[in-house]
Amino acid sequence: MRKKIFQVAIDSPAASGAGTQAKLISKYFNFYYLDTGKLYRILGKLFIKNNKKINYSLFKKKIKSTKPFHLKNKNLLSNEIGITSAFLAKNKKIRVLVNEYQKKIARNPPRKFKGVCFDGRDITYAIMPKADVKIFMTANVKIRAKRRYLELKKLGHKITLNEVLLNIKKRDKSDFTRKVSPLKICDDAIIIDNSKLNIKQCFKIIKNEVEKTLKRSS
Ligand code: C5P
Repeated sequence: MRKKIFQVAIDSPAASGAGTQAKLISKYFNFYYLDTGKLYRILGKLFIKNNKKINYSLFKKKIKSTKPFHLKNKNLLSNEIGITSAFLAKNKKIRVLVNEYQKKIARNPPRKFKGVCFDGRDITYAIMPKADVKIFMTANVKIRAKRRYLELKKLGHKITLNEVLLNIKKRDKSDFTRKVSPLKICDDAIIIDNSKLNIKQCFKIIKNEVEKTLKRSS
């Protein structure tokens, strides 16, 4: 039998820097990293390509055949795919498909990893309700928009700061208020507002939390 998989779950509104932190934590502790938003974005891209039609069997096939390198496609970060993925993420049947994929990895990541770290919207309560460390990460919406804007500019996207801000506000509204699996703060989650923190400072808080919990469970 495999040893218990250490689970770190991070939920956050769009562009809060959760992905950056989840990646750093995964690298530091040798955990498997999954950017769960990219799964919805992959379906968003497919939906656009498919003349904006929902095709569950096509979506299921796509998720089943998704490999980690597919999630690294930088085109997935576009504003259009962002808003489309948030639209699809409200659909219960689609969430079930995506959840299966995530839960399987959360329980049994590739052998070389002793833990997992996922970031998304429903990780702390739907995907890993018993996670060892739960984080709710957030930042002021204008700061989030500025960070995402600079990221997109660097990737060559033609977009204004205001367009990014509007997109993020729209997605926040959809993610927080949807009926199915809305973004919410769990009672047992640690809240980190990183508006005034740099990447290193934020990383230190999460790293200390993981170390503390690892020590307790060893
Ligand atoms: O994290 P990211 O911004 O890439 O996610 C894109 C969209 O996918 C979100 O706005 C949200 O609607 C949806 N999502 C979700 N549940 C997750 C991850 C993302 O509903 N676990």
